[in-house]
Amino acid sequence: MKSAGGNARAGTVKDAASFGDVVVLATPWPATEEAIRSAGSLAGKILIDCTNPMAADLSGLTIGTNNSGGEEVAQWAPGAKVVKAFNTLGAGSFANPRIGSEIASMFICGDDASAKSVVAQLTAELGFDVVDAGPLTASRSLEPMAMLWVHLAYMQGWGPAGHAFKMLRR
Ligand SMILES: NC(=O)c1ccc[n+]([C@@H]2O[C@H](COP(=O)([O-])OP(=O)(O)OC[C@H]3O[C@@H](n4cnc5c(N)ncnc54)[C@H](OP(=O)(O)O)[C@@H]3O)[C@@H](O)[C@H]2O)c1
Repeated sequence: MKSAGGNARAGTVKDAASFGDVVVLATPWPATEEAIRSAGSLAGKILIDCTNPMAADLSGLTIGTNNSGGEEVAQWAPGAKVVKAFNTLGAGSFANPRIGSEIASMFICGDDASAKSVVAQLTAELGFDVVDAGPLTASRSLEPMAMLWVHLAYMQGWGPAGHAFKMLRR
């Protein structure tokens, strides 16, 4: 708390969720449904879903290809405006999206246009190149991208710090 600064406060999951208009969901997949339940009603809030439905041993996704974690989260949080974001690259790049001379892309998707625009703005303020991938069903593509990121980091030995996706457009 002390190192977090004077504006920081500690509270329960429910306190934190009821405090903000925008709630960030970043839980291990097996804990996600329970975490949402303990947050209380999230109706009307923007819920940024950073999760990936990974197997515990990182060997693959436990949901796909005709469903996604993002869609499950939306079912568990009725009335919340779910926007999938921050799931396709390592947390080590969240504070610094620049890799060499390139800016990492941040893919987002969701069904509520105004919520997506708020998340796009927040994400751009962090310095990312924001890519709107469309409706929440695009989570079915964004979650396998996370799997590729994990595969490169941990199975191919790239490590967790220095790679991210970049979308090129002509
Ligand atoms: N790490 C990354 O680079 C990265 C990048 C993109 C996406 N993701 C995704 O983000 C999610 C979290 O990953 P992580 O690496 O940050 O995991 P982590 O280090 O294990 O952090 C998990 C967080 O979830 C909280 N938590 C666990 N069970 C909970 C529950 N029942 N209710 C409320 N909170 C609970 C923990 O709180 P306590 O400490 O209080 O237990 C902790 O703050 C995963 O779905 C992952 O796939 C991770």
